[in-house]
Amino acid sequence: MNILIVGGGGREHAIARAVADSKRADKIYCAPGNAGIGEIAECVDIKVMEFDRLVKFAKKHDIDMAIVGPDDPLVGGLVDSFKEAGIRAFGPEKKAAILEGSKAFSKDLMKKYSIPTAEYEVFTDAASALSYLDNAKLPIVLKADGLALGKGVLICNTLDEARNGVKEIMLDKKFGNAGNKMVIEEYMTGREVSVLTFCDGKTIKIMSSAQDHKRAGDNDTGLNTGGMGTFSPSPFYTKKINDFCKKNIFQPTVDAMKAEGREFKGVIFFGLMITEEGPKVLEFNARFGDPEAQVVLPRMKNDILDVMDACIDGTLGKVKLEFEDNAAVCVVLASEGYPVKYTKGHVITGLERFKDKEGYYCFHAGTKKSTKGVVTSGGRVLGVTAKGEDLHKARSNAYEAITWVDFENKYFRRDIGKAIDEA
Ligand code: AMP
Ligand code: GLY
Repeated sequence: MNILIVGGGGREHAIARAVADSKRADKIYCAPGNAGIGEIAECVDIKVMEFDRLVKFAKKHDIDMAIVGPDDPLVGGLVDSFKEAGIRAFGPEKKAAILEGSKAFSKDLMKKYSIPTAEYEVFTDAASALSYLDNAKLPIVLKADGLALGKGVLICNTLDEARNGVKEIMLDKKFGNAGNKMVIEEYMTGREVSVLTFCDGKTIKIMSSAQDHKRAGDNDTGLNTGGMGTFSPSPFYTKKINDFCKKNIFQPTVDAMKAEGREFKGVIFFGLMITEEGPKVLEFNARFGDPEAQVVLPRMKNDILDVMDACIDGTLGKVKLEFEDNAAVCVVLASEGYPVKYTKGHVITGLERFKDKEGYYCFHAGTKKSTKGVVTSGGRVLGVTAKGEDLHKARSNAYEAITWVDFENKYFRRDIGKAIDEA
């Protein structure tokens, strides 16, 4: 099969590696890809929102399956564009990707189908949102309705902060049109877990659980980022919780989407909060998580193309999804100063040390090739993943492996996976 992967971050590198492992993969292309993906696929200089160029490329190169990684093109309808041109594509169509694309849609869906989530209200004008705040309980959570590069969620501890937040989202349009509507919701406490699943429109199969570390600094301090590291499985995600989620959250979400005429085929990522009252949905994503994919996919035993085919064809019920009985930890190596201001273009050394090292992976995110070799080109630079027989071993393996690579302003959290000690 000829495969085209759309995207160019650590998640797409993890997908590309899994595809490269498939017996059925022949030629793999990635648009736009990055320096690491370039080692296993042919990178194509087309951006993820250039739908016409991507479709034209896929037709010209006899692509048998296009795999769309990031949220923007999914929510924008890239899978629809591929399908209209007769190209098989993995990922939800636009009408289903709205599950991630609109927080108001997803909250209303959960309310209608009694899927557990935080209490909320939707607002389309700033004045009503501001007056609602007068009687709201603090802390309170503000969410821009649309995609906002993962930055559209504000947790406000004071009324002033919340009022400013409403102004930023709805009046100053800090997140652009994503702020035409907003959700204000109850603040929940508990442990967060990410559960990635495959769906074929009616059947849902659960991948191994994971936990992300979103803040930039140790002990969850500093600004929110795209994710500074992950571990899988989560020891807090017990069988009992899984059974509850299957019955009350996962299958009901797939059924709800089907009932709404928005059949979901692809990956649903459930962001859950395990509260004292039980698991509740924080958010849905319509794609693999980044850096969740970097710890989940290396542990998956199935041929990824078989599973993706089954999602597209509606035959997922016949697939037995299997994961290794071990653990993985991913530590993100970022540019010092991320997510605000940082320098780029620094030479990365030591990448060759990962070659043929079983159970160790160096997934590239912000890297590119230059005349000086591979250099940094973004905030999150590399995701170093290591497997181990358990989480403790995986954690020490990952922290050893990050010493193999270096670049000038290398920054990482020292406490990725430390929470496992509390399990
Ligand atoms: P989201 O993009 O909706 O996942 O939100 C980003 C992060 O904000 C989540 O991973 C949580 O850490 C936090 N968050 C979102 N909603 C809530 C909530 N209702 N209560 C507490 N924390 C939240
Ligand atoms: N790691 C969180 C996300 O991919 O949205």
